[in-house]
Amino acid sequence: MNLTTDYLGLKLRNPLVIGASPFCDNTYVAHQLEDAGVGAVVMRSLFEEQIDAEQRALVHHVEMAAESNPEGTSYFPAFAEYQLGPDQYLRQLAHLKASLSIPVIASLNGSRPGGWTDYARRFESSGADAIELNLYQLVTDPTRAADDIEADMLETVRSVVGSVKIPVAVKLSPFHTSTAQFALELEHAGAKGVVLFNRFYQPDFNLEDLEVQSQLRLSDSSELLLRLRWLAIISPHLRGSLAASGGVHSAQDVVKAILAGAHAVQLVSLVLKHGPQILTVTLQGLTAWLTEHGYENLDQVRGAMNLRRCPDAAAFERANYIKILQSWRV
Ligand SMILES: Cc1cc2nc3c(=O)[nH]c(=O)nc-3n(C[C@H](O)[C@H](O)[C@H](O)COP(=O)(O)O)c2cc1C
Repeated sequence: MNLTTDYLGLKLRNPLVIGASPFCDNTYVAHQLEDAGVGAVVMRSLFEEQIDAEQRALVHHVEMAAESNPEGTSYFPAFAEYQLGPDQYLRQLAHLKASLSIPVIASLNGSRPGGWTDYARRFESSGADAIELNLYQLVTDPTRAADDIEADMLETVRSVVGSVKIPVAVKLSPFHTSTAQFALELEHAGAKGVVLFNRFYQPDFNLEDLEVQSQLRLSDSSELLLRLRWLAIISPHLRGSLAASGGVHSAQDVVKAILAGAHAVQLVSLVLKHGPQILTVTLQGLTAWLTEHGYENLDQVRGAMNLRRCPDAAAFERANYIKILQSWRV
């Protein structure tokens, strides 16, 4: 079975990609992922705040910066508390590149234009095959309009894309007013692909001590549905690559993401729960499904269930919404 796929112009042996996470902090673990068959890996993110903190430290202005905005800076981990410092990150990237034969994607995480985007160039010099730029942000300022925020994001993308020759994918959040239009704007800004979507780690309230409680719950397959919907909507319009991230927990989930239009399928929670060997099982399941259904490669499947042939996608979505609500009887 031919499972190869083109993702961001990189030829992957199969569509399974380890999503941004701690797996690649350890080269031995990254090897296990490669041996289990994964097509590519994404390193954890290097954050805008982390790079800014290092740059402030270098010019000895840490205290001044902290005094000027004590509340804001105290929310963030201290510089030394981040898992991989910027230099360590570059060393680990070079190390991974020297030891693995699959593509290694480095992840840069921030949304406002600024000097931190220089790290894209350093990622490239350290051997990254591609960059995943994660634009995660939760906009809480009621005076900022959506256009203004998206303009900043697009400028950030242009700045990253303009500084490197390697391909750049953008990892998006699902809460844009016009997600499909924004994905196209990203492509016009030079992104070679879009990763759908970031997960939002919703904090809870602790009712005993009235504290906000942050927690990292791993995903389950139900989260894939949001990704399937948007892959199906966006894939007919985008020339570049699409990756699903969030809620892929079985070979069937991988097939669904490809049917909706994905070129690559990112996995994190599944592998955190079951270890690298689950990748081999998932690849076997993917091959079995394709064989049973008479397919020889992924190109025959990709996008077969997207909305390309739907004359009015918005009406289709609204009709489904109404039907679901009307299906309940009491
Ligand atoms: C422990 C952990 C660390 C993560 N670190 C990052 C990160 O550094 N950058 C990033 O873009 N996403 C990060 N993610 C999010 C994942 O890349 C992925 O988008 C999310 O887990 C959804 O995929 P899943 O359902 O397969 O887990 C992390 C997720 C987990 C569980």
